[in-house]
Amino acid sequence: MLKRTITILLLVLLSSPAVAAGGEVELRSRSWSFSGPFGTYDKASMQRGFQVYTEVCAGCHSMKLIAFRNFIDLGYNESEIKAIASQYEVKDGPNDDGDMFLRAAIPADRMPAPYANDNAARAGNNGALPPDLSLIAKARPNGADYLYSLLSSYKDVPDGKDVPEGLYYNTAYPGHLIAMPQPLYGDDVSFSDGSETTIEAVSADLTQFLMWAAEPKMEARKRIGVAAVFFLCIFVIVSYLAKRRVWADVH
Ligand code: HEC
Repeated sequence: MLKRTITILLLVLLSSPAVAAGGEVELRSRSWSFSGPFGTYDKASMQRGFQVYTEVCAGCHSMKLIAFRNFIDLGYNESEIKAIASQYEVKDGPNDDGDMFLRAAIPADRMPAPYANDNAARAGNNGALPPDLSLIAKARPNGADYLYSLLSSYKDVPDGKDVPEGLYYNTAYPGHLIAMPQPLYGDDVSFSDGSETTIEAVSADLTQFLMWAAEPKMEARKRIGVAAVFFLCIFVIVSYLAKRRVWADVH
């Protein structure tokens, strides 16, 4: 009986996807400005993250749910946003002749995608689809730590590990084999505020930016949460005092 239980336990353990795929996910942590009930986003870091996204990631990844006007949250003013948008071209139409045409983007437009559709994206990436990054931070467990680790965990392949053509070794990715080539090598960008451009620093900036993209209203949510808890505490005290008063004559 005991033997059978142990065998079943072993089978269950060994068949779990992480083990079967040959590698546990190794996550690295950092203290994020946005964690905890009073957490807020770091605007300067998000602006740097947006710059890195544009210069490094946007060649493969779209962020279709983000409109240029949303960048007001990153601390840009309206004219800066207009200027950012005007650097992009978006498809519009049909015009009076029934044709689609390209025009400069305006703040109300969403960020254009690098590929026309998913099949084109797959064709350009060895058959793997670079996912849209708008909600990726919320679509993965431990979003912030995961993104930070994923971007900074490309490592030398250990002896005896076979990495097939078109895959890359990354210890933060489930199974350790990812179809995305290493995007950051350090000093990939230069920041006007003179911030660090190491792989870790840039990954942290990207994480701030992607966390904001996935949950732009986080700060409001936390503010309301804290206010609600504060209100409830006062309400409990008042209710208790009222109860004591109402029942004071009953012995
Ligand atoms: C050369 C194209 C290319 C570039 C540049 C690139 N990626 Fe990717 N990325 C991919 C592909 C392809 C996948 C799909 C990987 C897979 O399915 O194994 C991917 C997957 C991802 C994922 C999802 C991982 C998961 O858990 O499924 C994230 C997050 C990501 N990329 C972020 C980034 C960021 C941030 C940058 C910029 C620093 C970037 N990528 C640059 C091609 C690229």
